[in-house]
Amino acid sequence: MVTSRNPKETFASTTRIVMPNDTNTLGNLMGGNLLNWMDVAAAISANRHCRRVVVTAAVNNVSFDRPIRLADIVIIESEVTRSFNSSMEVYLEVFIEDSATGERSRCNEAMYTFVAVDQLGAPIGVPEIVPVSADEKDRFDGALRRRQLRLILAGKMKPSDATELKALFE
Ligand SMILES: CC(C)(COP(=O)(O)OP(=O)(O)OC[C@H]1O[C@@H](n2cnc3c(N)ncnc32)[C@H](O)[C@@H]1OP(=O)(O)O)[C@@H](O)C(=O)NCCC(=O)NCCS
Repeated sequence: MVTSRNPKETFASTTRIVMPNDTNTLGNLMGGNLLNWMDVAAAISANRHCRRVVVTAAVNNVSFDRPIRLADIVIIESEVTRSFNSSMEVYLEVFIEDSATGERSRCNEAMYTFVAVDQLGAPIGVPEIVPVSADEKDRFDGALRRRQLRLILAGKMKPSDATELKALFE
Protein backbone atom coordinates (compact mmCIF):
# COMPACT_ATOMS: atom_id res chain seq x y z
CA MET A 1 0.00 0.00 0.00
CA VAL A 2 1.23 3.53 -0.85
CA THR A 3 2.12 5.41 2.34
CA SER A 4 3.03 8.81 0.86
CA ARG A 5 2.71 10.82 -2.33
CA ASN A 6 4.10 14.01 -3.78
CA PRO A 7 1.46 16.68 -4.57
CA LYS A 8 2.32 16.38 -8.30
CA GLU A 9 1.08 12.78 -8.30
CA THR A 10 -2.36 14.12 -7.36
CA PHE A 11 -2.42 16.81 -10.06
CA ALA A 12 -5.57 17.01 -12.19
CA SER A 13 -6.40 19.39 -15.03
CA THR A 14 -9.98 19.79 -16.21
CA THR A 15 -11.04 21.82 -19.26
CA ARG A 16 -14.56 23.12 -19.94
CA ILE A 17 -16.11 25.62 -22.32
CA VAL A 18 -18.78 28.01 -21.02
CA MET A 19 -22.06 27.19 -22.80
CA PRO A 20 -25.29 29.27 -22.76
CA ASN A 21 -26.87 27.01 -20.10
CA ASP A 22 -23.95 27.72 -17.75
CA THR A 23 -24.42 31.50 -17.66
CA ASN A 24 -26.48 34.15 -15.86
CA THR A 25 -28.50 36.82 -17.66
CA LEU A 26 -25.34 38.91 -18.21
CA GLY A 27 -23.76 36.04 -20.13
CA ASN A 28 -21.25 35.24 -17.36
CA LEU A 29 -20.58 31.81 -15.88
CA MET A 30 -22.73 31.26 -12.76
CA GLY A 31 -20.60 30.96 -9.61
CA GLY A 32 -22.41 27.77 -8.59
CA ASN A 33 -21.45 26.08 -11.85
CA LEU A 34 -17.80 26.94 -11.30
CA LEU A 35 -18.03 25.59 -7.73
CA ASN A 36 -19.44 22.35 -9.13
CA TRP A 37 -16.68 22.03 -11.75
CA MET A 38 -14.06 22.74 -9.06
CA ASP A 39 -15.65 20.16 -6.75
CA VAL A 40 -15.34 17.44 -9.40
CA ALA A 41 -11.76 18.47 -10.27
CA ALA A 42 -10.73 18.49 -6.60
CA ALA A 43 -12.37 15.12 -6.00
CA ILE A 44 -10.21 13.64 -8.79
CA SER A 45 -7.04 14.94 -7.08
CA ALA A 46 -8.18 13.63 -3.69
CA ASN A 47 -8.98 10.24 -5.23
CA ARG A 48 -5.57 10.15 -6.98
CA HIS A 49 -4.00 10.63 -3.56
CA CYS A 50 -5.85 7.95 -1.63
CA ARG A 51 -7.60 5.83 -4.34
CA ARG A 52 -10.71 5.67 -2.14
CA VAL A 53 -14.21 7.15 -2.26
CA VAL A 54 -13.95 10.79 -1.20
CA VAL A 55 -16.63 13.25 -0.04
CA THR A 56 -16.52 17.04 0.15
CA ALA A 57 -16.24 18.17 3.78
CA ALA A 58 -15.64 21.91 3.28
CA VAL A 59 -15.14 24.61 0.65
CA ASN A 60 -12.98 27.58 1.65
CA ASN A 61 -11.01 30.53 0.33
CA VAL A 62 -12.99 30.77 -2.91
CA SER A 63 -12.57 34.06 -4.70
CA PHE A 64 -14.28 35.14 -7.91
CA ASP A 65 -11.84 37.78 -9.09
CA ARG A 66 -13.27 38.43 -12.56
CA PRO A 67 -16.24 37.33 -14.66
CA ILE A 68 -15.89 34.30 -16.90
CA ARG A 69 -17.77 34.87 -20.15
CA LEU A 70 -19.82 32.75 -22.52
CA ALA A 71 -17.51 30.74 -24.83
CA ASP A 72 -14.47 31.19 -22.59
CA ILE A 73 -12.44 28.03 -22.09
CA VAL A 74 -12.04 27.30 -18.37
CA ILE A 75 -9.04 25.31 -17.13
CA ILE A 76 -9.11 24.05 -13.55
CA GLU A 77 -5.89 22.70 -12.04
CA SER A 78 -5.90 20.96 -8.68
CA GLU A 79 -3.59 19.08 -6.35
CA VAL A 80 -3.57 17.87 -2.76
CA THR A 81 -1.55 20.21 -0.53
CA ARG A 82 -1.60 18.10 2.64
CA SER A 83 -3.38 15.17 4.17
CA PHE A 84 -4.17 14.57 7.85
CA ASN A 85 -5.86 11.40 9.16
CA SER A 86 -8.77 10.91 6.76
CA SER A 87 -8.95 14.44 5.31
CA MET A 88 -7.10 16.07 2.45
CA GLU A 89 -6.83 19.75 1.52
CA VAL A 90 -6.97 20.36 -2.25
CA TYR A 91 -5.71 23.59 -3.82
CA LEU A 92 -7.33 24.74 -7.05
CA GLU A 93 -6.37 27.39 -9.57
CA VAL A 94 -8.70 28.47 -12.36
CA PHE A 95 -7.53 29.93 -15.67
CA ILE A 96 -9.48 31.35 -18.59
CA GLU A 97 -8.38 30.80 -22.16
CA ASP A 98 -9.93 33.26 -24.61
CA SER A 99 -11.47 31.02 -27.28
CA ALA A 100 -10.75 33.61 -30.01
CA THR A 101 -7.14 34.58 -29.13
CA GLY A 102 -5.88 31.70 -27.00
CA GLU A 103 -4.72 34.21 -24.37
CA ARG A 104 -4.64 32.56 -20.93
CA SER A 105 -5.11 34.34 -17.61
CA ARG A 106 -5.56 33.24 -14.01
CA CYS A 107 -8.95 34.14 -12.59
CA ASN A 108 -9.43 32.48 -9.22
CA GLU A 109 -8.37 29.95 -6.63
CA ALA A 110 -9.96 27.88 -3.88
CA MET A 111 -9.31 25.31 -1.18
CA TYR A 112 -11.54 22.26 -0.84
CA THR A 113 -11.38 19.66 1.92
CA PHE A 114 -12.21 16.03 1.15
CA VAL A 115 -12.54 13.06 3.47
CA ALA A 116 -11.85 9.48 2.40
CA VAL A 117 -14.66 7.16 3.47
CA ASP A 118 -15.36 3.44 3.45
CA GLN A 119 -18.42 1.77 1.95
CA LEU A 120 -20.47 2.77 5.01
CA GLY A 121 -19.40 6.43 4.77
CA ALA A 122 -17.08 6.28 7.78
CA PRO A 123 -13.76 8.20 7.55
CA ILE A 124 -10.67 6.09 6.81
CA GLY A 125 -6.94 6.86 6.85
CA VAL A 126 -5.10 8.27 3.83
CA PRO A 127 -1.40 8.36 2.85
CA GLU A 128 0.83 11.32 3.78
CA ILE A 129 1.76 14.13 1.43
CA VAL A 130 5.47 14.82 1.02
CA PRO A 131 6.03 18.29 -0.47
CA VAL A 132 9.15 18.87 -2.59
CA SER A 133 9.09 22.31 -4.25
CA ALA A 134 9.12 25.59 -2.28
CA ASP A 135 5.51 26.32 -3.32
CA GLU A 136 4.43 22.84 -2.22
CA LYS A 137 6.17 23.32 1.13
CA ASP A 138 4.49 26.72 1.65
CA ARG A 139 1.07 25.29 0.93
CA PHE A 140 1.82 22.24 3.12
CA ASP A 141 2.77 24.46 6.08
CA GLY A 142 -0.24 26.76 5.59
CA ALA A 143 -2.63 23.80 5.38
CA LEU A 144 -2.26 23.09 9.09
CA ARG A 145 -3.32 26.65 10.02
CA ARG A 146 -6.16 26.64 7.49
CA ARG A 147 -7.37 23.30 8.91
CA GLN A 148 -7.38 24.74 12.42
CA LEU A 149 -9.31 27.83 11.28
CA ARG A 150 -11.96 25.83 9.40
CA LEU A 151 -12.41 23.37 12.27
CA ILE A 152 -12.81 26.26 14.75
CA LEU A 153 -15.41 27.88 12.47
CA ALA A 154 -17.19 24.52 12.12
CA GLY A 155 -17.29 24.21 15.92
CA LYS A 156 -15.05 21.11 15.79
CA MET A 157 -11.94 22.52 17.47
CA LYS A 158 -11.37 24.72 20.50
CA PRO A 159 -9.45 27.92 19.63
CA SER A 160 -7.09 27.14 22.50
CA ASP A 161 -6.01 23.94 20.67
CA ALA A 162 -5.08 25.81 17.46
CA THR A 163 -1.42 26.25 18.40
CA GLU A 164 -0.03 27.01 14.93
CA LEU A 165 -2.87 29.41 14.08
CA LYS A 166 -2.45 31.30 17.37
CA ALA A 167 1.29 31.61 16.75
CA LEU A 168 0.51 33.88 13.76
CA PHE A 169 -0.88 36.50 16.15
CA GLU A 170 1.76 36.27 18.88
C1 LIG B 1 -17.12 14.64 6.08
C2 LIG B 1 -17.64 13.52 7.01
C3 LIG B 1 -17.29 12.17 6.40
C4 LIG B 1 -16.90 13.70 8.32
O1 LIG B 1 -17.42 12.73 9.17
P1 LIG B 1 -17.46 12.91 10.77
O2 LIG B 1 -18.28 11.86 11.34
O3 LIG B 1 -17.73 14.33 11.09
O4 LIG B 1 -16.01 12.50 11.12
P2 LIG B 1 -14.94 13.16 12.04
O5 LIG B 1 -15.45 14.23 12.95
O6 LIG B 1 -14.21 12.01 12.61
O7 LIG B 1 -14.01 13.89 10.97
C5 LIG B 1 -13.37 13.17 9.97
C6 LIG B 1 -12.48 14.10 9.25
O8 LIG B 1 -13.27 15.11 8.63
C7 LIG B 1 -12.73 16.38 8.93
N1 LIG B 1 -13.82 17.35 8.95
C8 LIG B 1 -15.02 17.19 9.51
N2 LIG B 1 -15.73 18.31 9.35
C9 LIG B 1 -14.95 19.19 8.70
C10 LIG B 1 -15.11 20.53 8.24
N3 LIG B 1 -16.23 21.23 8.44
N4 LIG B 1 -14.08 21.12 7.60
C11 LIG B 1 -12.94 20.45 7.38
N5 LIG B 1 -12.73 19.17 7.78
C12 LIG B 1 -13.72 18.57 8.43
C13 LIG B 1 -12.12 16.20 10.31
O9 LIG B 1 -11.17 17.21 10.58
C14 LIG B 1 -11.51 14.84 10.18
O10 LIG B 1 -10.27 14.95 9.51
P3 LIG B 1 -9.02 14.01 9.93
O11 LIG B 1 -9.51 12.60 9.97
O12 LIG B 1 -8.01 14.21 8.84
O13 LIG B 1 -8.54 14.48 11.27
C15 LIG B 1 -19.17 13.62 7.25
O14 LIG B 1 -19.46 14.83 7.92
C16 LIG B 1 -19.97 13.55 5.97
O15 LIG B 1 -20.18 12.49 5.41
N6 LIG B 1 -20.40 14.73 5.46
C17 LIG B 1 -21.16 14.79 4.22
C18 LIG B 1 -20.21 14.76 3.03
C19 LIG B 1 -20.98 15.03 1.77
O16 LIG B 1 -21.98 14.39 1.52
N7 LIG B 1 -20.48 15.98 0.97
C20 LIG B 1 -21.20 16.43 -0.15
C21 LIG B 1 -22.16 17.46 0.30
S1 LIG B 1 -23.50 17.64 -0.81
